[in-house]
Parts: sequence; C-alpha cells; structure tokens
Amino acid sequence: MAAVFENKNILCGISGSIAAYKVCDWVRSLQKEGAEVKAVMTRAATKFVSPLTFAALTGNPVYGSMFAVRDEESIPHITLARESDLILVAPATAQTIARLAHGFADDLLAAIVLASEAKIVVCPAMNCKMYLHAATQENIRKLKEYGYLVLEPECGMMACGEEGPGRLPEWVQVRDALIKALSAQELAGKTVLVTAGPTEEPLDPVRFLGNRSSGKMGYAMAAVARQHGARVILISGPTRLAPPPGVELIDVRTAEQMYQEVVDRFDAADIIVKAAAVSDFRPTRMSATKIKKNGENMGLELARNRDILQTLGAMKQQKPTPPLLIGFAAESDNLLAYGREKLEKKNLDFIAINDITAADSGFGVDTNRVILLDRKGGQTNLPLLSKEETARAIWSRVIGKG
Ligand code: CTP
Repeated sequence: MAAVFENKNILCGISGSIAAYKVCDWVRSLQKEGAEVKAVMTRAATKFVSPLTFAALTGNPVYGSMFAVRDEESIPHITLARESDLILVAPATAQTIARLAHGFADDLLAAIVLASEAKIVVCPAMNCKMYLHAATQENIRKLKEYGYLVLEPECGMMACGEEGPGRLPEWVQVRDALIKALSAQELAGKTVLVTAGPTEEPLDPVRFLGNRSSGKMGYAMAAVARQHGARVILISGPTRLAPPPGVELIDVRTAEQMYQEVVDRFDAADIIVKAAAVSDFRPTRMSATKIKKNGENMGLELARNRDILQTLGAMKQQKPTPPLLIGFAAESDNLLAYGREKLEKKNLDFIAINDITAADSGFGVDTNRVILLDRKGGQTNLPLLSKEETARAIWSRVIGKG
C-alpha cells in the first residue's frame, strides 16, 4: 500500500509571517508520508526562517528569486509550476493573498501560482484585524473563485498579543485538506452515512454495558469518504476521537438511539457504512437510582437490541435504487464462513471482516487486518495496515478502482 503522498511533488510557498516556523514540521510530515517537497520563499519569509533551514529539510535548493538561475536553461517559475502536483501556500500573508488574488507575477511564488495547473491550497496567517478586513476577505473570495482551497485560520492568541482568527491550522487539518485536494472526487454529490464507536446501554445513572470499540475504523471510513468528495454524516457512539474535518457529527449513546438516527436517514443516503460495534443486548430495565450491592450475586436480565444493519438490508429491498450497504464483522473463528453468512443474511454489498483474536487487529488498536468480501463472491485480503490505510483500501474497492 503506497504512502498517502507517494509520488507527489509538493511545493511549499512560504511568505513572511512568524508562523513560517511551523511549516518546517509540515515539510517533515509530508516527506514521512512519501512526498517530494521543494520550497519557495518570499523575501519577507527569509526574515523569519533562514532558507538554509528549508534547504536542509527538503534536501533541495530553496527558490527565492525569479532571476537566480543556476542552470542557464531553466526558468524557475515555469519548471516549478509544471512539476508540482500541489502548491501549499503557507503561511499566506495578506500581501501574498492580495498578490495571488490580483494575478500579480512580481515575485517567484506569485508567478509560479499563476503559471501552474496544480492544486493550490492556501493557509492564511496574519493579524486577526488584517484577516477580517473587507479587502482580505474579498481577496480570499477571489482565490476560492479560482478554485483554490483556502483553509480557515484558527482562532486564538496571536504573536502580536491580539486574539481572533489568523493562526495557521493544526497539521491534521492541513494534511486532510491536502489529501482531499489530491484525491479524485469520485464520491462528489453522494451522501455517505457512517456509524462508528461502541454503544452504551445504561444499567443505572452511573453504570452501563459497553464494549472496547475505539471508533477509529469508522472515523477513518468517514474521513476518507469526505476526502473523496462525499457529504458525510457520522453517527457515533461515545469515543475520545475528534470528528474528521468537514464531517457532520451526530452523537448517540444507546443502540436504540443509533437505530433511530440511522433509519431516519436511510432515504437520504447513497452509501451506508456500519462500522459501529452495536451492543446486541440491553438491560431490560434501567434503575433510576444507583444499584446497591445487596447480597453476593446479582442477576441481570437482558433484552435483544434490534439489528440496525439487518433492518437496513430489509429496507433496501423496498427501494428501486437502494443505497450500498457496507457492514463490518468482528469474528474470533470461522472468519470467512461467518462473514459470508452475515453478508447474505443482512443483504450487504460488502463486508469487512476482522479477526479480533489478533493483537494487532480490531478493537482498540491503530492497525487492522481486514478481509473484504463482496456480494459477487469477491474476496480481498488486505495486509496489516493502519486503520486509515485500511479505510483507503476499502473505499478504493468500493469506488471500483480494484
Ligand atoms: N450490527 C447492527 N446492529 C446490531 C448488531 C450489529 O447494525 N444490533 C451491525 C454492526 O454494525 C456490523 C455488523 O452488524 O456492521 C456485524 O456485527 P457483529 O457484531 O460482528 O455481528 P452480529 O450480527 O451482531 O452477530 P454476532 O454478534 O452473533 O457475531
């Protein structure tokens, strides 16, 4: 499985803001995930971070001037414009944003952006008043009109002591935006419903029956669907995870709440991914007061929860153009037989089976080893991958790229 930025030429265009130092780390992160990175710095940027820093980090010369041509034949703004798959303008100052908005070509970075057909991602960073000024906002609107992806700056305390929007976003947000910009938008116009995490079935005001699901697999399925252009609704049981950027989050606690939220949205969904570890049973009654420890033993009467996925599989038969159903199965033995049985019984298009007895796969851990079965009898054995890579591999099968 190729790293997410493998074979991608990414050009970092750094302009003159104190936030420039943060981009040094981003360069490292991009390289770790396979990117070939080059850097262009505006004159003001070199006042904050030395070009030597970016040269050492990227392993490439740092470009600054239109005219500093080493090789007589090379035209830096054209060569760099052509060879880049993506140009990340970060930090983008008010000045650089104005230059790009007005199509000036009076410095190397602006000229490259003008000459390039690459994806352009812009991360504004400046004083909050400068950012909120109508002129900057108008310039940002223009950049969006040109098809550039402009990230919202974060709010917070600025280097100048003022507080407001103008800080660079965290790397996780930027990384997600870069992946989205580089991904084909095969799921554009589609609504994807994802369930994730455990459910909790209350026993009394402080106790519940739950399970060890972390939600990571479902959150990764949601993030990757969003990166491929889908509108994503994530219905999640209690987890410690931050929702992926751009995803609509609906929090639920019990299996019954999840059932309602999912079934209500069945008609709106083109694809439904049921990665949640839904509790099969719930206590028949919830005590309104904390249960006291009377006696040596305590019996617990449980009632079956409705099977959400099976309900969806049945609803699918009533629809002329039903949504695609993707289920997950946690198994400890007879993986293939039980998986195939669930695929048939619940009327699924795909089922991702994981072996929960393996320490590196399934509940709670960051990695997974999944077998993906489809309705036509196909089987794909994925290797041990991070949950994000697993999600990427599953989506690429579902989207039909093999
Ligand atoms: N599922 C569901 N509603 C339930 C139980 C499970 O929607 N009440 C879904 C899960 O989200 C998953 C799939 O069904 O996509 C399989 O879940 P799993 O727990 O492996 O299987 P079960 O059908 O519950 O069967 P068993 O526990 O007997 O193995």
